[in-house]
Amino acid sequence: MKKWNYNDVYKKYDMNGVINIGKGTVKVHDIFNGLPEFMKQADCIFCDPPCSRGNLSTFYTKAELTNTNDYLHFQNRLFECIDEVKPIDLFLEVFKSNKESFIADCRKRYKYVDVYESTYYFKENNVCWIIHAHNYELKEPFPINGTDEEDVIEWITQNIDYKCIGDFCMGRGLVGYYSNKAGKHFVGTELNKKRLAILLDMINNNSMKGYH
Ligand SMILES: C[S@@+](CC[C@H](N)C(=O)[O-])C[C@H]1O[C@@H](n2cnc3c(N)ncnc32)[C@H](O)[C@@H]1O
Repeated sequence: MKKWNYNDVYKKYDMNGVINIGKGTVKVHDIFNGLPEFMKQADCIFCDPPCSRGNLSTFYTKAELTNTNDYLHFQNRLFECIDEVKPIDLFLEVFKSNKESFIADCRKRYKYVDVYESTYYFKENNVCWIIHAHNYELKEPFPINGTDEEDVIEWITQNIDYKCIGDFCMGRGLVGYYSNKAGKHFVGTELNKKRLAILLDMINNNSMKGYH
Protein backbone atom coordinates (compact mmCIF):
# COMPACT_ATOMS: atom_id res chain seq x y z
CA MET A 1 0.00 0.00 0.00
CA LYS A 2 3.00 2.31 0.54
CA LYS A 3 3.09 2.97 -3.20
CA TRP A 4 -0.18 4.87 -2.99
CA ASN A 5 0.64 7.02 0.02
CA TYR A 6 1.58 10.05 -2.12
CA ASN A 7 4.61 10.86 0.07
CA ASP A 8 2.44 10.89 3.21
CA VAL A 9 1.44 14.52 2.54
CA TYR A 10 -1.98 13.78 4.07
CA LYS A 11 -0.36 13.38 7.49
CA LYS A 12 0.37 17.13 7.52
CA TYR A 13 -3.34 18.00 7.38
CA ASP A 14 -6.56 17.36 9.24
CA MET A 15 -8.54 15.72 6.44
CA ASN A 16 -11.77 15.32 8.47
CA GLY A 17 -14.98 17.18 7.76
CA VAL A 18 -15.42 20.22 5.54
CA ILE A 19 -12.06 21.80 4.69
CA ASN A 20 -11.66 25.45 3.72
CA ILE A 21 -8.53 26.09 1.70
CA GLY A 22 -7.70 29.26 -0.23
CA LYS A 23 -10.77 30.25 -2.26
CA GLY A 24 -12.26 26.79 -1.87
CA THR A 25 -14.32 24.35 0.17
CA VAL A 26 -13.61 20.63 -0.19
CA LYS A 27 -14.36 17.35 1.54
CA VAL A 28 -13.12 13.77 1.52
CA HIS A 29 -16.33 12.18 0.38
CA ASP A 30 -17.81 9.38 -1.73
CA ILE A 31 -20.51 10.79 -4.04
CA PHE A 32 -22.59 7.67 -3.36
CA ASN A 33 -23.12 9.05 0.15
CA GLY A 34 -25.20 12.06 -0.87
CA LEU A 35 -23.92 15.42 -2.08
CA PRO A 36 -22.59 17.99 0.42
CA GLU A 37 -24.73 21.13 0.42
CA PHE A 38 -21.73 23.36 -0.39
CA MET A 39 -21.39 21.67 -3.80
CA LYS A 40 -24.60 23.38 -4.89
CA GLN A 41 -22.75 26.72 -5.01
CA ALA A 42 -21.13 25.64 -8.26
CA ASP A 43 -22.43 27.28 -11.45
CA CYS A 44 -19.73 25.54 -13.49
CA ILE A 45 -18.49 21.95 -13.22
CA PHE A 46 -15.29 20.41 -14.50
CA CYS A 47 -14.96 16.74 -13.66
CA ASP A 48 -12.54 14.04 -14.79
CA PRO A 49 -14.28 10.95 -13.32
CA PRO A 50 -13.08 7.33 -13.43
CA CYS A 51 -13.74 6.06 -16.97
CA SER A 52 -14.48 2.34 -16.54
CA ARG A 53 -15.29 -0.22 -13.88
CA GLY A 54 -11.64 -1.30 -13.69
CA ASN A 55 -10.48 2.30 -13.32
CA LEU A 56 -13.12 2.96 -10.65
CA SER A 57 -12.03 -0.12 -8.69
CA THR A 58 -8.38 0.98 -8.88
CA PHE A 59 -9.27 4.32 -7.29
CA TYR A 60 -11.15 2.55 -4.47
CA THR A 61 -8.11 0.30 -3.90
CA LYS A 62 -5.81 3.34 -3.76
CA ALA A 63 -8.19 4.80 -1.15
CA GLU A 64 -8.00 1.48 0.78
CA LEU A 65 -11.68 0.83 0.02
CA THR A 66 -13.55 -1.79 -2.00
CA ASN A 67 -15.68 -0.85 -4.96
CA THR A 68 -19.04 -2.61 -5.13
CA ASN A 69 -20.57 -0.59 -7.99
CA ASP A 70 -20.58 -1.32 -11.70
CA TYR A 71 -19.75 1.54 -14.04
CA LEU A 72 -23.32 2.33 -15.11
CA HIS A 73 -24.27 2.74 -11.47
CA PHE A 74 -21.38 5.17 -11.01
CA GLN A 75 -22.23 7.14 -14.18
CA ASN A 76 -25.88 7.41 -13.11
CA ARG A 77 -24.85 8.63 -9.66
CA LEU A 78 -22.51 11.24 -11.19
CA PHE A 79 -25.31 12.58 -13.39
CA GLU A 80 -27.66 12.65 -10.37
CA CYS A 81 -25.10 14.93 -8.71
CA ILE A 82 -24.95 17.07 -11.86
CA ASP A 83 -28.76 17.30 -11.81
CA GLU A 84 -28.66 18.51 -8.20
CA VAL A 85 -26.12 21.22 -9.01
CA LYS A 86 -27.50 22.20 -12.45
CA PRO A 87 -24.36 23.99 -13.65
CA ILE A 88 -24.57 26.56 -16.45
CA ASP A 89 -21.37 25.13 -17.91
CA LEU A 90 -20.67 21.42 -17.60
CA PHE A 91 -17.22 20.13 -18.61
CA LEU A 92 -16.53 16.39 -18.45
CA GLU A 93 -13.25 14.75 -19.34
CA VAL A 94 -13.90 11.40 -21.00
CA PHE A 95 -12.06 8.52 -22.58
CA LYS A 96 -12.84 6.02 -25.35
CA SER A 97 -14.61 3.77 -22.82
CA ASN A 98 -17.16 6.35 -21.58
CA LYS A 99 -17.24 9.04 -24.30
CA GLU A 100 -20.41 8.07 -26.18
CA SER A 101 -22.54 7.29 -23.12
CA PHE A 102 -21.49 10.56 -21.45
CA ILE A 103 -22.30 12.55 -24.60
CA ALA A 104 -25.73 10.86 -24.65
CA ASP A 105 -26.37 11.74 -20.98
CA CYS A 106 -25.30 15.36 -21.62
CA ARG A 107 -27.64 15.61 -24.64
CA LYS A 108 -30.57 14.57 -22.42
CA ARG A 109 -29.89 17.64 -20.27
CA TYR A 110 -28.35 20.38 -22.43
CA LYS A 111 -29.19 21.99 -25.77
CA TYR A 112 -25.56 22.20 -26.93
CA VAL A 113 -22.92 19.53 -26.43
CA ASP A 114 -19.47 20.31 -27.86
CA VAL A 115 -16.64 17.81 -27.85
CA TYR A 116 -12.98 18.89 -27.87
CA GLU A 117 -9.97 16.65 -28.44
CA SER A 118 -7.46 16.67 -25.62
CA THR A 119 -4.57 14.78 -24.01
CA TYR A 120 -3.43 14.17 -20.43
CA TYR A 121 0.00 14.41 -18.79
CA PHE A 122 1.14 16.35 -21.88
CA LYS A 123 1.67 13.12 -23.86
CA GLU A 124 0.26 13.08 -27.38
CA ASN A 125 -0.61 9.36 -27.18
CA ASN A 126 -2.69 9.94 -24.03
CA VAL A 127 -5.90 10.70 -25.84
CA CYS A 128 -9.02 12.02 -24.12
CA TRP A 129 -11.89 14.37 -24.87
CA ILE A 130 -13.49 17.27 -23.05
CA ILE A 131 -17.27 17.56 -23.35
CA HIS A 132 -18.77 21.02 -22.87
CA ALA A 133 -22.54 20.98 -22.29
CA HIS A 134 -24.45 24.27 -22.12
CA ASN A 135 -27.80 25.86 -22.97
CA TYR A 136 -26.51 29.20 -24.31
CA GLU A 137 -25.33 29.74 -27.84
CA LEU A 138 -21.60 30.15 -28.44
CA LYS A 139 -20.41 32.52 -31.19
CA GLU A 140 -17.46 30.21 -31.86
CA PRO A 141 -15.95 27.12 -30.27
CA PHE A 142 -13.55 27.64 -27.37
CA PRO A 143 -9.85 27.76 -28.44
CA ILE A 144 -9.01 24.59 -26.51
CA ASN A 145 -9.17 21.88 -29.16
CA GLY A 146 -6.03 19.74 -29.16
CA THR A 147 -4.65 21.15 -25.90
CA ASP A 148 -3.78 19.16 -22.80
CA GLU A 149 -6.41 18.73 -20.04
CA GLU A 150 -4.30 20.81 -17.68
CA ASP A 151 -4.16 23.73 -20.12
CA VAL A 152 -7.92 23.32 -20.68
CA ILE A 153 -8.57 23.56 -16.94
CA GLU A 154 -6.37 26.65 -16.67
CA TRP A 155 -8.14 28.23 -19.67
CA ILE A 156 -11.58 27.52 -18.15
CA THR A 157 -10.63 29.03 -14.78
CA GLN A 158 -9.39 32.17 -16.54
CA ASN A 159 -12.01 32.57 -19.25
CA ILE A 160 -15.37 31.17 -18.10
CA ASP A 161 -17.28 33.76 -16.12
CA TYR A 162 -18.31 31.44 -13.29
CA LYS A 163 -18.84 32.37 -9.65
CA CYS A 164 -17.78 28.96 -8.36
CA ILE A 165 -16.41 25.88 -10.11
CA GLY A 166 -17.13 22.39 -8.76
CA ASP A 167 -15.47 19.01 -9.19
CA PHE A 168 -17.04 15.81 -7.78
CA CYS A 169 -13.83 13.77 -8.26
CA MET A 170 -11.07 16.24 -7.42
CA GLY A 171 -8.16 13.80 -7.29
CA ARG A 172 -5.02 15.82 -6.68
CA GLY A 173 -6.96 18.95 -7.47
CA LEU A 174 -6.02 20.56 -10.78
CA VAL A 175 -9.43 22.29 -10.88
CA GLY A 176 -9.06 23.68 -7.36
CA TYR A 177 -5.46 24.69 -7.88
CA TYR A 178 -6.05 26.65 -11.08
CA SER A 179 -9.29 28.22 -9.85
CA ASN A 180 -7.52 29.38 -6.71
CA LYS A 181 -4.68 30.73 -8.86
CA ALA A 182 -7.25 32.67 -10.90
CA GLY A 183 -8.68 34.07 -7.63
CA LYS A 184 -12.03 32.32 -8.11
CA HIS A 185 -14.10 30.14 -5.77
CA PHE A 186 -14.14 26.37 -6.05
CA VAL A 187 -15.82 23.42 -4.32
CA GLY A 188 -15.08 19.74 -4.54
CA THR A 189 -15.32 16.21 -3.23
CA GLU A 190 -12.77 13.40 -3.47
CA LEU A 191 -12.88 9.79 -2.28
CA ASN A 192 -9.22 9.56 -1.27
CA LYS A 193 -7.85 11.82 1.47
CA LYS A 194 -4.29 11.06 0.38
CA ARG A 195 -4.98 12.47 -3.08
CA LEU A 196 -6.98 15.48 -1.88
CA ALA A 197 -4.18 16.42 0.55
CA ILE A 198 -2.00 17.19 -2.46
CA LEU A 199 -4.34 20.05 -3.41
CA LEU A 200 -4.03 21.48 0.10
CA ASP A 201 -0.26 21.29 -0.14
CA MET A 202 -0.12 22.87 -3.61
CA ILE A 203 -2.31 25.77 -2.50
CA ASN A 204 -0.33 26.26 0.71
CA ASN A 205 2.93 26.21 -1.27
CA ASN A 206 1.40 28.34 -4.04
CA SER A 207 3.09 25.92 -6.43
CA MET A 208 2.69 22.57 -8.16
CA LYS A 209 6.40 21.91 -7.70
CA GLY A 210 7.00 18.29 -6.81
CA TYR A 211 3.52 17.24 -7.97
CA HIS A 212 3.87 17.41 -11.74
C1 LIG B 1 -9.13 10.59 -12.92
S1 LIG B 1 -9.06 11.04 -11.26
C2 LIG B 1 -9.25 12.79 -11.25
C3 LIG B 1 -7.95 13.50 -11.45
C4 LIG B 1 -8.06 14.96 -11.21
N1 LIG B 1 -8.55 15.66 -12.36
C5 LIG B 1 -6.77 15.57 -10.71
O1 LIG B 1 -6.56 16.79 -10.89
O2 LIG B 1 -5.98 14.86 -10.08
C6 LIG B 1 -10.62 10.51 -10.64
C7 LIG B 1 -10.78 10.69 -9.15
O3 LIG B 1 -12.10 10.31 -8.77
C8 LIG B 1 -12.04 9.83 -7.44
N2 LIG B 1 -13.27 9.04 -7.18
C9 LIG B 1 -13.55 7.80 -7.60
N3 LIG B 1 -14.76 7.42 -7.16
C10 LIG B 1 -15.26 8.45 -6.44
C11 LIG B 1 -16.46 8.64 -5.71
N4 LIG B 1 -17.39 7.68 -5.65
N5 LIG B 1 -16.66 9.82 -5.07
C12 LIG B 1 -15.71 10.79 -5.13
N6 LIG B 1 -14.54 10.65 -5.81
C13 LIG B 1 -14.32 9.50 -6.46
C14 LIG B 1 -10.77 9.01 -7.43
O4 LIG B 1 -10.27 8.77 -6.12
C15 LIG B 1 -9.84 9.86 -8.30
O5 LIG B 1 -9.02 10.68 -7.51
